[in-house]
Amino acid sequence: MAATSEPFRIGLLGHGTVGAAFETLVAERAGAVAATVGQRPEISGVLTRSRGDFDEILEGSDLIVELIGGIEPAREYVLRAMRAGRHVVSANKQLLSQYGEELWAVARENEVQLRFEGAVAGVVPVIRVLQESLAAAHVERIHGIVNGTTNYILSEMARAGISYEQALLQAQELGYAEADPTDDVTGRDAAAKMAILARLAFSTPVHLDQVVYEGIEHITADDMAYADELGLGLKLIGTAERVDGGISVRVHPAFLYGEHPLATVNGPFNAVTVESDAITEITMSGPGAGGPQTASAVLGDVISAMIPPASTPETTQALPVVGDVVSAFYLHMEVADRPGVLAQIAEILGMQGASIKSFVQRGLGDNARLVMVLHPLLESRLYAAVRMIGQLDFMRAAPRAIRVIDEEFS
Ligand SMILES: NC(=O)c1ccc[n+]([C@@H]2O[C@H](COP(=O)([O-])OP(=O)(O)OC[C@H]3O[C@@H](n4cnc5c(N)ncnc54)[C@H](OP(=O)(O)O)[C@@H]3O)[C@@H](O)[C@H]2O)c1
Repeated sequence: MAATSEPFRIGLLGHGTVGAAFETLVAERAGAVAATVGQRPEISGVLTRSRGDFDEILEGSDLIVELIGGIEPAREYVLRAMRAGRHVVSANKQLLSQYGEELWAVARENEVQLRFEGAVAGVVPVIRVLQESLAAAHVERIHGIVNGTTNYILSEMARAGISYEQALLQAQELGYAEADPTDDVTGRDAAAKMAILARLAFSTPVHLDQVVYEGIEHITADDMAYADELGLGLKLIGTAERVDGGISVRVHPAFLYGEHPLATVNGPFNAVTVESDAITEITMSGPGAGGPQTASAVLGDVISAMIPPASTPETTQALPVVGDVVSAFYLHMEVADRPGVLAQIAEILGMQGASIKSFVQRGLGDNARLVMVLHPLLESRLYAAVRMIGQLDFMRAAPRAIRVIDEEFS
């Protein structure tokens, strides 16, 4: 590639955890980038709440990197940059999962690139793989561990037998969880990332509001211990899949058998499994967040933007979002230990078409528990059974149901 003495000017919006790491990385890697693409990147202006002027930064840049986060003013700046003919790189999952269609349309109209690898799974190159390497594959399903905070908490609960509250505190002390961990532990952060992945995998608009999500706050150390006996480990799993001519995108805690490619992903790591007839299954994993890691994904996007062209997602026909899907379940019941208990539970499960795959019974008297894994059934039927079982007079607490990903991997 022909070298030019003109620098490639990057206007940097946001100078926090990722923005500051990005500035450092650009300074460190500028020479190597210049050797590869023929132009030396440099930060031509920085905007924070107390520093810089957006119009001046825009004027003096070839590309804008948005690392402010949230919706406004990030959305306005990204739109204005693209309308002014600038490529944009962002790591903002909230913005893309809620305003992606608008932003991609403006990118197409203005023939600029909008790149966002850092928005999902940190440095794991899943966006690029879906947009480029697997562009011709008919993706059937994606499973992802796309939130490192919750994966760390669940891994520690399983490893050390500690409670959710203890594991969360530990995650905060180590910097894996924010002081306000709500977005992470409720599944909302993962839901935003799954909306973006589903959009790319199925070429259909997917808004964050269409993603059903459930968090990990109600998971007990007890559930983890019982599941361990049944050969299961718990993860917060994002799923995006084709179902009955539509799609389903959801995030919820789910048990996995040991052979599943995501079962061994522990600590603050992320991993995404893509399934398609053509490729069978591929799994990508790596650090899910962190300033330097995300900055590396952002710089990768900047370099890609320096070498044109890359495709921007096309608008396509919307696929219906399917609400009720089939899943296997783990069911945990605290019962009074007396004759006929199992028969009554089995009868209700049978009425709803549920059949038992494996089963553990523990304790006596007031301490009796029945823990089972059910073969896949429609979620609505499982929850109908759970409501009915919950009303039986020998139940000492509401039954707990957690999904199980029951796929064969060899
Ligand atoms: N942290 C991670 O590990 C990680 C991983 C993946 C993706 N991301 C994404 O990367 C983005 C940045 O995250 P971060 O952790 O670096 O955030 P952060 O540490 O909170 O930094 C945000 C930066 O944006 C600036 N800012 C906030 N509001 C602004 C406004 N109205 N006008 C101008 N500047 C404003 C802040 O300025 P002040 O300095 O003046 O407050 C700060 O410099 C987010 O979209 C996040 O979701 C982060």
